[in-house]
Amino acid sequence: MLPLFVSGRDARTIPVWPVDTAGLEGWLAAQPATAAAWARTSQFRAQAGQVLKIPSANGELAATAFGLGEGGDPLLWRALPEALGPGTYAIEGRMTEDTARMAALAWALGSYRYERYKKPVKADAQPQLVLPDGVDGDDASRIAEGVFLARDLINTPANDMGPQELSDAAAALAQRHGAALHILAGEALLHHNYPMIHAVGKASVRPPRLLDMRWGDVNAPRVTLVGKGVVFDSGGLDLKPSDGMRLMKKDMGGAANVLGLAHMIMGAGLKLRLRVLIPVAENAVAGNAFRPGDILNSRKGLTVEIGNTDAEGRLILADALTEGASEQPEYLFDLATLTGAARTALGAEIPPFFTPDDALAAQLSLCSQRVADPLWRLPLWQPYARGLESGIADVNNVTEGGMAGAITAALFLQKFVEGARVWAHFDIYAWNAKAGPGQKAGGEAMAIRALYALLRDRF
Ligand code: BES
Ligand code: MN
Ligand code: ZN
Repeated sequence: MLPLFVSGRDARTIPVWPVDTAGLEGWLAAQPATAAAWARTSQFRAQAGQVLKIPSANGELAATAFGLGEGGDPLLWRALPEALGPGTYAIEGRMTEDTARMAALAWALGSYRYERYKKPVKADAQPQLVLPDGVDGDDASRIAEGVFLARDLINTPANDMGPQELSDAAAALAQRHGAALHILAGEALLHHNYPMIHAVGKASVRPPRLLDMRWGDVNAPRVTLVGKGVVFDSGGLDLKPSDGMRLMKKDMGGAANVLGLAHMIMGAGLKLRLRVLIPVAENAVAGNAFRPGDILNSRKGLTVEIGNTDAEGRLILADALTEGASEQPEYLFDLATLTGAARTALGAEIPPFFTPDDALAAQLSLCSQRVADPLWRLPLWQPYARGLESGIADVNNVTEGGMAGAITAALFLQKFVEGARVWAHFDIYAWNAKAGPGQKAGGEAMAIRALYALLRDRF
C-alpha cells in the first residue's frame, strides 16, 4: 500500500468533514459554536474544492471541512493532499462504498509529484489518509501506481526517454511481476517482418524496437494491449511546426499507459493471459528517413503509400496490431496519441474510442462513468475508408483534406486487426495542458482506469 494511506485512527488524526452546499447549514448547526463561527468568518460556503481549517483553542489544526459543491465530481478529493499540510486525516460521516473508494483513489492521485529534474527542496511530509471503512487500500494503491508510472514515463523528456529507456522501463515492470519480455531491435525488426516499425524508426540514431511482454497462465483468456511508443515525433520529413512539435515527447503516451494498465492487471493477479506489444520508434529527420510518396510493405502484406510521414503512429501500430490479432485474443486494445483531430473533436480531456463491438462499447461507457475516467465512442464510419484509397498501393496512410481525422486513423488501424474477437482503439491525449486542483500540468493517464475496471469485472 502506498504510504499515502494508513489503516487506523489515533489521537492525532484530524477529521475531514465533507460538506456539500445543500448540507452546509445542517453541518454548521451540528458543530460547536466556535467552529461554526470560524466557518462563517472564513466564508466557508462548501464550494467545490474549498478547504476550511479549524484551529483548536491553542492554535493547532483541530479539524477540517472540505467543500463538495453540488457534489457531482467523484475525483474532487484530488485537491485535498495539496491543500492540507502534513498530518493524518480521516473522512467523517457516512459514505457509500463507491464514494469512499473514489475518495481514497482521488486522494492518492492528487498526491503525485514529478521531481526528477528539480533541485531537491525540503518537501513537507505527504499528508496521509486513514482508509475509509470497506475500501481496498491495496487496489487504490495499485491503480495510483499504474497512473504514476504512466505520468512519470510521459513527463520524462525524450533525451532521457528514448527507445532504450522505454525498454528499460518495460523490463523493470516485467521483472517486478515475473513477466517475460522479448525485444526486437533495429535490423531484427526487418528479419522478423515488422517493416513499418523499422521504416518509421530507422532515421534515428536510437534504433526502433518492438517490446513484447507476456504474463499469466498460458491457458487463461488472452488480453493483448498495444501502445504507441513514439519517443519523439518531429513529424519526419513532413516536419511539424514548432508549436506542434513542442509536446511531442509525450508521443509514447500510449505505451506509458499500457504499461500502467499492465501494472494494475499483474498486481491484481487477474485471471487472464496478458500480452503487451509496444512498437517503439523515434520519428526523426535524416538522409535515410522514410519519405512522402514511399510505399512500405507491412507485416500484414498490405502495401502502404506514405501520404504524410507525420502519420507515423498508425504505421507502427499496424504492424504490432497485425501480430496481436494473429493470436485471436479475447480482447485487443490499443492506446495511442494518434491524432490532433481527436482533440479538435472532443478536446484534451475526453479520449474517443472506436470499436465495432456494441456490447463492448456499452460496457466501456459504463466503466468510464463508474470510475470517472472519461471516454466517448466515435464511429468507425466505413464509407470514410474510401478516403484511404491509394492509386498505386493497397492503402494510403492519410486521407486528402483531413476531415474526420480521428475516424480515418481508426479505420486505417482496423484494416490490420482481422482475427481479434473484440478490438477497441483509444485515441488519447495523455497530457494535462493546465494544472487544476490536485492535477499537475503534464503527463496524464487516460482510459486505463476504465479499462482496468472492465477487466476486473470480467476476470
Ligand atoms: N502524434 C501525432 C498526433 C498528436 C498531435 C497527438 C498533437 C496529440 C497532439 C501524430 O503522429 C500526428 O502527427 N498526426 C497527424 C496526422 C496527420 C498527418 C494525418 C495529425 O494529427 O496532425
Ligand atoms: Mn506524427
Ligand atoms: Zn505521433
